[in-house]
Formats: sequence, C-alpha cells, structure tokens
Amino acid sequence: MASSSSSFSSSLIVIVTFAVLVLLMGSSSAQLSTNFYSKSCPKVFSTVKSVVQSAVSKEKRMGASLLRLFFHDCFVNGCDGSILLDDTSSFRGEQTAGPNNNSVRGFNVIDQIKSKVEDVCPGVVSCADILAIAARDSTVLLGGPSWDVKLGRRDSKTASFSAANRIGVIPSPSSTLRILISRFQALGLSTKDMVALSGSHTIGQARCVSFRNRTYNDSNIDSSFAKTRQGSCPRTPGSGDNNLAPLDLQTPTAFDNNYYKNLLNQKGLLHSDQELYNGGSTDSQVESYSKNPKAFKSDFAAAMIKMGDISPLTGSKGEIRKKCGKVN
Ligand code: HEM
Ligand SMILES: *[C@@H]1O[C@H](CO)[C@@H](O)[C@H](O)[C@H]1NC(C)=O
Ligand SMILES: *[C@@H]1O[C@H](CO)[C@@H](O)[C@H](O)[C@H]1NC(C)=O
Ligand SMILES: *[C@@H]1O[C@H](CO)[C@@H](O)[C@H](O)[C@H]1NC(C)=O
Repeated sequence: MASSSSSFSSSLIVIVTFAVLVLLMGSSSAQLSTNFYSKSCPKVFSTVKSVVQSAVSKEKRMGASLLRLFFHDCFVNGCDGSILLDDTSSFRGEQTAGPNNNSVRGFNVIDQIKSKVEDVCPGVVSCADILAIAARDSTVLLGGPSWDVKLGRRDSKTASFSAANRIGVIPSPSSTLRILISRFQALGLSTKDMVALSGSHTIGQARCVSFRNRTYNDSNIDSSFAKTRQGSCPRTPGSGDNNLAPLDLQTPTAFDNNYYKNLLNQKGLLHSDQELYNGGSTDSQVESYSKNPKAFKSDFAAAMIKMGDISPLTGSKGEIRKKCGKVN
C-alpha cells in the first residue's frame, strides 16, 4: 500500500516535471537572446544605430515615433513586425486601424534600416528585431536609458486590421486607470510596468483629436494649461484634428522624468496620462518617478524588455522578410 502510493507520487513528479519542461520549451519568448545575431550578423547593432542616429538628428520627434511603432507592433498579436505590412488592393493591414491611422510614423526609417542591414547580412535579421533595436537606440539618443535588446523574433506573414482596431487592444487616450491596468495585465505587464512604460510620453507629439475631449471636458486639468492647448485644438470635432501638441510640455525631445512632474501639476496631455495620477493606486509610483529619475529609467528599461517578449514568432514560425512592408 505504502509502496504503491509512493511509486504513484514519484511517477506524478515525473509527469509534472515533464509537463513543466514542455511548457518552458513551448513558450517561445524563452528563445529570444541578446546574442542571437552575434555570429550571423555582428554588424546589426552598428548598422541600425547609424540610420536611427541620422534620422533623429534630422528630426528629433522621429525617436518618439520609432519607440511608439514598437509598442503598437507588440500590442497587436505580439512583436512580429505585423504593423510594418503595407495595405495592398487585396490586403488590409494594421496601418489604417483607428489607433494607427494618420498617427504612427517612421516606416521610411525602418525601410532604410532594413535595406542597410540586408546589405551587410542578407536574409538574416527580422523586421520585428529591427523595430526592437530601433526603439532602444531612439530612447538612448534622446537621453533615456539603455538595455540589452533580446533578439530572435521572426516576421509575421500577415497582419490584422481588426485586431489593431479592436477597442482596448491598443489602449485609447480616453481609457480609465482600470482599463489601462487590465489591458497591460492581459499581456503579462504589471501595473508597475504600465506606469513606467507610460513615461514614453515624455517625448513626442499628439494630435488634437487625441486630447480635445480632455482639454474641454476634464476637471482634473490645470486651467491655464487647458486654455493653452485649446488654442491649437478647436472645440468642434473635425476642425484642426491633426494639429499637434507636445505630450510633455516642458522638454518634448528629451527622455527625462518631466512626464511625471507634469502629472503632479495636472498637466498630463491625454486623459489616460492623468489617470495615472488621479487619486488612485498608481499615484505613489508617479510621485516616486517625479523625484527619482534613476528609478524611472531603470524600471523603464526592464519593462521594455518585458514588452519585447510579448508572443514573438520563433524557430520556424513566420519568416525573415526581405522588405519590411511586404511578405516574401
Ligand atoms: C498607457 C497607454 C497608452 C495610451 C493610451 C497611449 C496613447 C497615445 C496617444 C493617443 C498618442 C498620440 C497619438 C496621436 O495623436 O497621433 C501617443 C503618442 C505616443 N506614445 Fe503612447 N500611449 C500609451 C502607451 C505608450 C507606450 C507603452 C509607449 C512606448 C513604450 C508609448 C509611446 C508613445 C510615443 C513615443 C508617442 C509620441 C509619438 C510621436 O510623436 O510620433 N505610448 N500615445
Ligand atoms: C484613415 O485616414 C484617412 C485620411 O484621414 C481616411 O480617409 C480614412 O478613411 C481612414 N481610414 C480608416 C480605416 O479609418
Ligand atoms: C464634452 O462633453 C459633453 C457631454 O459629455 C459632450 O456633449 C461634448 O461633445 C464634449 N466635448 C468635447 C469637445 O468632446
Ligand atoms: C468626453 O469627456 C466626458 C467627460 O469626461 C466623458 O463623459 C465622455 O465620454 C468623453 N467622450 C469621449 C469621446 O471621450
């Protein structure tokens, strides 16, 4: 009796161990590694960096745009380069979905990087990995933290207009704190990661259509700041929709912690920004980052690595695109 129950429990241990191993092997993010191209394309980092550097020196905002491109890629079916696929007459991809249409930018820079990378190691480096490296390099060039980028993602053979357009997949600027937390949670990112990643809004620009409602209707906004923003964003929907304003009113091309300082003063540009400091559970983290830029930067770097781990295609899944805008 005793011996049969102990052999039962030892075979249970074997089965459980086996199941855990299979799960570990099956989770594709386990296969990403920082040295993925160290033999096959050692020049990938210097090649990407040189193109990002010249693009950002021409237009600083491009650093923000490249960072956001990576975020919008990762949040729709994982970091698989799907956002880069252009529409064709028979295919509708992600670029014209609501959160992206007339808003995401930087495709030409990614195409330039890809073409230079193809010159040094043809058919080796994925567009999904190029996005990940370009996001890191952009952050560093604007004064933000650096991190070791995990690589080995492959490119999707398709893209999903409907997934990119689905409410809540890419969070909208009218999101509540509860929605923001749950959306990030669904992708394995904690509330802490969400607050740190939102610090990206210390760089770049938003369109009037993204902040109109906040400047006219929110009560948790500094009144003189609201007036200033109304000045470039007429109340009437449809009028001046594409007028731009900086997400960080102080230093929109510097990757610093002013985003959090603005929130303490009710000067977040987006409704969703101010939700992070509106009497809720994330107030203390915002206060902490506003005083401690080092903590922000190190948490941001860690969260970017986690975001880059969202559902990559690895092994023999997907492909290495020759051009980022279309499947092979
Ligand atoms: C927390 C939820 C988030 C919401 C609701 C949100 C929403 C937005 C919106 C509405 C814009 C302006 C788009 C426009 O009007 O054209 C924007 C810009 C931007 N977002 Fe986010 N975002 C979020 C998180 C993130 C994350 C996680 C990152 C990066 C890791 C990011 C990076 C950026 C950057 C850099 C810009 C400026 C882009 C440019 O100037 O081209 N955002 N975001
Ligand atoms: C994208 O924006 C263009 C230009 O404003 C507009 O004509 C088009 O209908 C939009 N596409 C979608 C799918 O909403
Ligand atoms: C402000 O809110 C009111 C009531 O919810 C709405 O009718 C109006 O369209 C909103 N204004 C803007 C600019 O969104
Ligand atoms: C605009 O803001 C008001 C008040 O905060 C809110 O009730 C309404 O749903 C918002 N509308 C949009 C389109 O975000």
